[in-house]
Amino acid sequence: MRHSAPHGEASGPSSQRIDTGFDQPRPMRDRLGDPFVGGGVGKVAGSPVETGLGSAHGKAILLGEHAVVYGAPAIVLPLLDLQATASIRRSRRGYITSDLYTGPLASAPRHMGPVLTALRVSAEQLDVRADRVELILRSTIPFERGLGSSAATSAAVVRAVANLAGERLSAAQTHDLVQEAEHVAHGTSSGLDAHAVQSMTPLRFQQGKPTTVKVADKCTFVIADTGTSGSTAAAVDGVSMLRDVQSRVVDRVVEDLANLTDDVVYSLGLGDPLRVGQSMHEAHSLLAYLGVSSPALDAVVAAALEGGAYGAKLTGSGLGGCVLAVVPDQEQAGDVAAAMTAVGATRTWTTTLTPNDFDLMTAPTARVPKGEF
Ligand code: PMV
Repeated sequence: MRHSAPHGEASGPSSQRIDTGFDQPRPMRDRLGDPFVGGGVGKVAGSPVETGLGSAHGKAILLGEHAVVYGAPAIVLPLLDLQATASIRRSRRGYITSDLYTGPLASAPRHMGPVLTALRVSAEQLDVRADRVELILRSTIPFERGLGSSAATSAAVVRAVANLAGERLSAAQTHDLVQEAEHVAHGTSSGLDAHAVQSMTPLRFQQGKPTTVKVADKCTFVIADTGTSGSTAAAVDGVSMLRDVQSRVVDRVVEDLANLTDDVVYSLGLGDPLRVGQSMHEAHSLLAYLGVSSPALDAVVAAALEGGAYGAKLTGSGLGGCVLAVVPDQEQAGDVAAAMTAVGATRTWTTTLTPNDFDLMTAPTARVPKGEF
């Protein structure tokens, strides 16, 4: 990636209080020094440490968002340069320091619910007192932009708690704990993000099951933030309401998205970014039909195509958030990013998939039979 997201992102959270499971606020004490700046922290697996550390990365959905909720496959890309990190240590009070809220755990506002759920469920499992820790969160993943901020932060917290307790959790155990937090963040969630923020390779994900996607040749993507936040729950509800009144049409769109997703799996396995782009272009129109695009997303998609992208689409739940474009090469990435910025994108990032050794290609003949969803 060429640019990192700035710290201090704080778009749109409600300040309403929630029941976090943490009781009384504890007396203020001096802040915990930032352990990311020096501090010499032990990280020996199997023995408890004074300060537990954890991190996880962001993600972008390449294809299949919304359809994945109805059983179709989706592909997700790891964004390794966008990172959430957590640092935790035992304390006499419960206190959190983060870009979105700093203060006693017990007074945390509603938008901290997912993180606090991750803390509570992992602490319960790992025998740590969740109300007696100081937690510091740092993140370069923009909040509420469909880039996996909440799942990555929750995964970082779960890993930090495990590190503090001297335990090593499996990816499946971490996923299950993160998924509890994701339910608080989004209501019903497909589980995609909780896998994606732990995976170093692109994943095809369907009905709870992730498989690694083969990448035969370099494939470069530009991500652009429209500067507006979307609400995953509102977007998912909107599609569900549309399906209530137009079930046959929505099921057909889901089926088409499923087929495009497997076509992209195949194209990545062939090393054919042009064909990836064509599928992305079609997918954006289908997502717009489902009502989850916006004028800002459409404008950035159009600008990406004019700037030389092979294809572009919204990524994530939509109604705001980001556009993902596939480009011929790194050089073209700059032109595409500039075109997207010219129509209002507030930030852009570039990421390149490198070829991997996995051989789990899905042939495009594996079409989804009609009526399966
Ligand atoms: O925008 P995000 O990162 O929250 O992605 C949501 C993806 C959906 O398919 C819309 C919902 C889900 O649970 O998979």
